[in-house]
Amino acid sequence: MNIFVLTGAGVSVASGLGTFRDKDGLWSRFDPMKLATPEAFARDPDQVHAFYNMRRRNLMEAEPNAAHFALARLEAGLKEQGGKLFLCTQNIDDLHERAGLQQVTHMHGELLKARCVACGAIMPWCEDLSVATPCLSCGDTGNLRPHVVWFGEMPLFMDAIYDALLEADLFASVGTSGSVYPAAGFVAEARGHGIRTCEINLEPSDNARQFDERRYGPASEAVPAWVEDMLTSS
Ligand code: APR
Repeated sequence: MNIFVLTGAGVSVASGLGTFRDKDGLWSRFDPMKLATPEAFARDPDQVHAFYNMRRRNLMEAEPNAAHFALARLEAGLKEQGGKLFLCTQNIDDLHERAGLQQVTHMHGELLKARCVACGAIMPWCEDLSVATPCLSCGDTGNLRPHVVWFGEMPLFMDAIYDALLEADLFASVGTSGSVYPAAGFVAEARGHGIRTCEINLEPSDNARQFDERRYGPASEAVPAWVEDMLTSS
């Protein structure tokens, strides 16, 4: 069986990383229009770097949780059965990879990578970034930015994502509010092609009614139970 899984911030909550739109979420404490847009970076790069430096340091303290490990088991289990998992995440953390997932498609980029807007180089980056940080490739300073997709920018790998979505037997959405497109539109795309859909979330998302199956609870409990069902039933 081929399964396409889309994850959002909810899958990393048990690892201590916050969500965006919950009561005490990131966007209730920080203004995304001042910190997560190209215009904000052009206007005040120091403030944007400080925001992502704080998130990068938090991530370095975080560990994968049972949901991340369960999805790695799903990837290995499906492969053994001749099937495939396509894991597409909106998250910019590396917890899926650290839990052992071999294929992770980061449609919103990666917090632990930096990109040089002068030469286009993308490089692993775990330390703080600032306007004085030189690019490891071209040496220019003032041109490094977090390799993350900001509001108003195109998500990454969309062709590969839609190809994988249409090859799936099942589309599962885990830990996302379903409020940001294009990811929020994947369930309608799947349904339009007769693909079964499942939502696994703490509570019904904005597009919960579009899902054939819905499971609610903390991802660290609901995802391992769902993976167990997928691997024993398929
Ligand atoms: N287990 C499962 N789901 C949870 C948990 C949990 N422990 N805690 C919260 N959730 C759910 C919430 O109910 C909510 O539906 O996770 C979802 C988080 O929603 P958002 O905060 O909107 O995060 P997300 O959907 O990932 O945001 C999508 O928006 O700001 C952009 O780029 C950012 O990638 C992000 C995108």
